[in-house]
This record gives sequence, C-alpha cells and structure tokens, in this order.
Amino acid sequence: MKIAILPGDGIGPEIIEQAVRVLNALDEKFEMETAPVGGAGYEAHGHPLPEGTLKIAKEADAILFGAVGDWKYDKLERALRPEQAILGLRKNLNLFANLRPAILYPELAGASTLKPEVVSGLDILIIRELTGDIYFGQPRGVRECPDGPFKGEREGFDTMRYAESEIRRIAHVAFQAARKRGKRLTSVDKANVLETFQFWKDIVTDVHKEYQDVVLEHMYVDNAAMQLVRAPKKFDVIVTGNMFGDILSDEASMLTGSIGMLPSASLDANNKGLYEPSHGSAPDIAGKGVANPLATILSAAMMLRYSLNKAEQADRVEAAVKKVLSQGLRTPDIHEEGTTKVGTKEMGDAVVKALAS
Ligand code: IPM
Ligand code: MG
Repeated sequence: MKIAILPGDGIGPEIIEQAVRVLNALDEKFEMETAPVGGAGYEAHGHPLPEGTLKIAKEADAILFGAVGDWKYDKLERALRPEQAILGLRKNLNLFANLRPAILYPELAGASTLKPEVVSGLDILIIRELTGDIYFGQPRGVRECPDGPFKGEREGFDTMRYAESEIRRIAHVAFQAARKRGKRLTSVDKANVLETFQFWKDIVTDVHKEYQDVVLEHMYVDNAAMQLVRAPKKFDVIVTGNMFGDILSDEASMLTGSIGMLPSASLDANNKGLYEPSHGSAPDIAGKGVANPLATILSAAMMLRYSLNKAEQADRVEAAVKKVLSQGLRTPDIHEEGTTKVGTKEMGDAVVKALAS
C-alpha cells in the first residue's frame, strides 16, 4: 500500500515525523513517498501544489498531510499561497467528505474552557462538505459593482452554490455515519435566509427517506453555533456545507480543549483519503520540538481504518495514544499541574513504546 507523505510547513514536518515512526512500528509494510507542499512546495518548485506532489498524491492509496501556511507567504498572490495546496488537493482528488471528530478524552476534561459537566464524555462527528459551496463557486473576484446603491464602486464577490448531487452524496455519507453511531443526524443550514441552504435542507430531507432508522433534525447555523457551547453532548453527527463546516468544526474542536488532539479525514467516493490534524501549521512554535503530534498520529489511525482497511492496526494506534495519556504524558498545549510535560519526539517515543507493549 502506498502512502503519500506531505509534511508541509511550520510544525508539519515535526509532527509527521512522529506519525511516520508510529506507522513504521506496526507489523505492516507501507510504501511511503514524501513530497513538498504548501510553502515548502513554493520554495522547492515555485508552487504550493507542485505537479510532482499532485502526481504522488493521485497515485497513492492514502495521503498523510501535516499542515500548510506561514505568515511570510501572506503577501503572495492568492494562487501561490500555501492554503491553495490543501484546497487544490481536495478539489483535484474529489475529497468531498470531511470527517472531523471532536472527542473529549476523560484525562483531558480539565483542558476545556467549558465546565467539565458540559463536555465530559463529548463525542461528536462533524461531516463537512469539502469541495463545493462558496469556497469554490464561480464567479468570484473583485469587479466594478454592476448595480444597486453601490453601482460603479469596486466590490468583492463570491458565489454560494450547491448542485443536487453534491448535497445527496454528502448526505448519504452523513446518514451512513450516523447509522454506525448514535443514529442522530443534525443538518445545519441557513434556510431562513439563503436559497442554497433551503435547497440543501430539501435534498437532505429527501435522502432521509432512505434512512428512516436515523433521526434527522435541521438547525440554523447560528443556533448550531450556540447549541455547540450550550449543550454540545446533544449532538451526535452534524452535516453541513463547506463554509459553515469550517467554522463549526473549529468551534467543536475547542470544546475538547485541545485542537492538538483532533484528527480529520477527507474522503472521496471510494474511501481514498487525505488525513491531517485539525490544527494548522503553528509557525510560532515550529522547530521548537513542543508541538503535539497526537492529532497527526490519530489521523494516521483514521487512515488505517478508512483508506487502508486495517481496522485492527487503527485500534492499536488509538489504544497506544490513550495509554500515553493515562501515563500522564502531555505536550505543553494540554499540560496541567500533576502531569508530565514532554516534547514532540518524546511523545512519539511514548506512543511507539506503548504499541510494543
Ligand atoms: C481547514 C482550514 C482550511 C479551510 C484553510 C487552510 C484553507 O481552515 O481545513 O479548516 O478553510 O478549509
Ligand atoms: Mg478551518
């Protein structure tokens, strides 16, 4: 099985290194090929998603991705910025289903900014549509405003749109995921204002006919944002569009207290996927050896489960992560009094060791 390894920028290389060590410690042989992406791609080949990198990603069975982005590229034109690498991979590989679990490990209940009773035992799954919506809708740009009270001025504009088949396929993914969990799905929209999301709601309601064992509820995005901090445990699976999903998944990750713990998967129709930590490249701590590698290691576990069909190995990796947490090992982002502060490599060492035992 072939895995494309794309470390990217900032803390990307350090955390990917630990995840690769964990994969190598399993009793499976993986063929891995590493390629530059994001700012690193720009430095090496003048583009955030170099052709060679895209080719390696296309040919692989799965992609393990670190993070991209650094302030030093902020002045580049949009097409050359590091973020275009991840957007380009999603679009080129048709990775339309983004799975972002938000799980609160009991050992980390104190890390959340919310009261422990509100979040303890939290286990929700956000399914974000990833290749449509206002992120990719055309036309977009800056132009002379053609009409209305601001006619003649310059205006920026984007296009929110969803085709029926795009909504149907993500709805199927969401209903199927809910079926394997608590059988409750919340579809988040803004049907009270936006045509796109009234349509979304109608299509999700129609797809529901095939999944009568799953309880479907619809919720406006503003209310969902509120309910997520008010009573997050009421949610099981949430499905929403690209833009709302971007925002709500960051909010959900913070309920757990550490975005450094959360993996994610972006899948195509055949379960080929790209796996990355939910956090970003954190350039402020890059190279210091303090980044938390667990989200990336847990992303590798998701990769084993969803794309490589190695559920048993995935279970082992997840159990090893739980074990190091129960041993009290913590990187600075999740450190509390009474636990042992460790760096990126020590955390990787501990997971590798826990795998062996
Ligand atoms: C994410 C990120 C990306 C997004 C950025 C880096 C383009 O915020 O994966 O959530 O907006 O999708
Ligand atoms: Mg985001």
